[in-house]
Amino acid sequence: MPNTRDRWNSQVGFLFAAVGSAIGLGNIWRFSYMCHDNGGGAFLVPYFVALLAAGIPLMLLEYGFGHSRAGSAPLSFAKVGQKSEVLGWFMPVMVMFVIMLYYSVVIAWCLNYLVFSFDLSWGADTESFFYNNFLKLSEGPGQLGDVRLPILLSSLVVWFIIWIICFKKVSHGIERACKIFMPTLFLLTAVLVIWGLQLDGATEGLRYYLRPDWSRLKEWKVWNDAFGQMFFSLSLGFGIMIAYASYLPKRANIVGNAYLTSVINCGYSFFAGFAVFSVLGYMAQVSGVPIKDVVAGGPGLAFVVYPRAISLLPAFNSLFGVLFFLILVIAGISSGISIIEALGSAIQDKFSINRFRVITLLCVTGFLGSLLFCLQGGLYWLDILDHYSNNYGLVAAGFLECLIVGWAVKTHLLRKHINDSSTLKINRIWDFSIKVITPLILGSFLVGALYHEFAERYEGYAIKYLVIGAGWLLFLLAAAVFISRLPWRAGSLKREHSSRGGKLLT
Ligand code: PFF
Repeated sequence: MPNTRDRWNSQVGFLFAAVGSAIGLGNIWRFSYMCHDNGGGAFLVPYFVALLAAGIPLMLLEYGFGHSRAGSAPLSFAKVGQKSEVLGWFMPVMVMFVIMLYYSVVIAWCLNYLVFSFDLSWGADTESFFYNNFLKLSEGPGQLGDVRLPILLSSLVVWFIIWIICFKKVSHGIERACKIFMPTLFLLTAVLVIWGLQLDGATEGLRYYLRPDWSRLKEWKVWNDAFGQMFFSLSLGFGIMIAYASYLPKRANIVGNAYLTSVINCGYSFFAGFAVFSVLGYMAQVSGVPIKDVVAGGPGLAFVVYPRAISLLPAFNSLFGVLFFLILVIAGISSGISIIEALGSAIQDKFSINRFRVITLLCVTGFLGSLLFCLQGGLYWLDILDHYSNNYGLVAAGFLECLIVGWAVKTHLLRKHINDSSTLKINRIWDFSIKVITPLILGSFLVGALYHEFAERYEGYAIKYLVIGAGWLLFLLAAAVFISRLPWRAGSLKREHSSRGGKLLT
């Protein structure tokens, strides 16, 4: 039977799509506060170590694995064995039903703020505006409160855009969209950075951003955050890169593409940090407060501190705000579409359901699920679920991925496959990282996270809410086990197995 799998139109198209998935809210919203929270410039050291020790090796693994097996994550892992298939499902299911549900709502906030930028509706007290007027935040996770209509409506818009892009085949929908989104994103970010650097006090902001506080490197949390951020940022352990690589042609230049994706993504985070911190430096100067006191963590940075800084700018405030939030919206949507593709292609591979139906179903369920985060208590649940998915879900997925591919699949054969398709080559050090180094690091983070979990309650939330958060992840794991037991559509596993020398690798 012929292999009917869709293909990217070009290598550049693939690269834009992969970079589009990697560059997201995390690069601007998450990276800058992680950096600030963990000793400013000192954070760049563990971040760089994380790139070399886990980011690049795993990116090579996911590309090579998806390419050699010509399948979505479940299909690729099913070719190793039925037990491994569970991991293939767990990754996209967890990302879709945890991360993507709140991620889409954060994009929806950005859409609202884009509109607010026109008349700087957030006023002088941006903190009270965000928490009291916009979110109308309740007292705690137990009080879900009412639906916030503006958030719900913009979330509907977000899901609609995602649906429009995804229901067409990849080369028509995602590839075309990312070819427009990515250059636009780079251009807008460059404008914002150059603009930011002209402001008084920008150098002070950058000094704060880049000056390393080496003493922080002794802290376990700093390293854990760096690895967590690396995973989230490169969309590793999501099953996305496996699915994207499955649409590559035979000569795919996997090594070059893996290096490029990782470097462009991390370079972008670093670069976008200039836009964030130069403006914070300006704000510190104008308000006469030291920079360390003006910066807030978490969502506060993009929705409280940055709007305040935008209002203080000497000219063109609205334009600056529109640019900033537009960047966030574009970055967010190009990441969101990738998870719909990862799970959509998985369902198509296994059950042979028509693409239009699968994507529509996922977008409708996604929208309904994201309603939780449109409620007044949604932010607490975002915080709890983000904690479990990033500290356990993604890290455990990366850990198991290394163990399965490192030990059940012969890494030297996968390496050969990767090298055969690439101009640049990788050597045995990669095998060693996948088999030993990366899983050791990830395993120790898992143990450390568990230790901390029991030592102190996360953010002081009542146990019952934490149990619900962790329980939801376990439920999704059970769902992954269940789906992996269902039969594959006739012949799909076998047919695609032989499509690109997959047999070689088991
Ligand atoms: N790599 C994205 C980021 O850094 O923002 C994270 C992401 C989230 C990717 C959700 C895909 C996704 F569906």
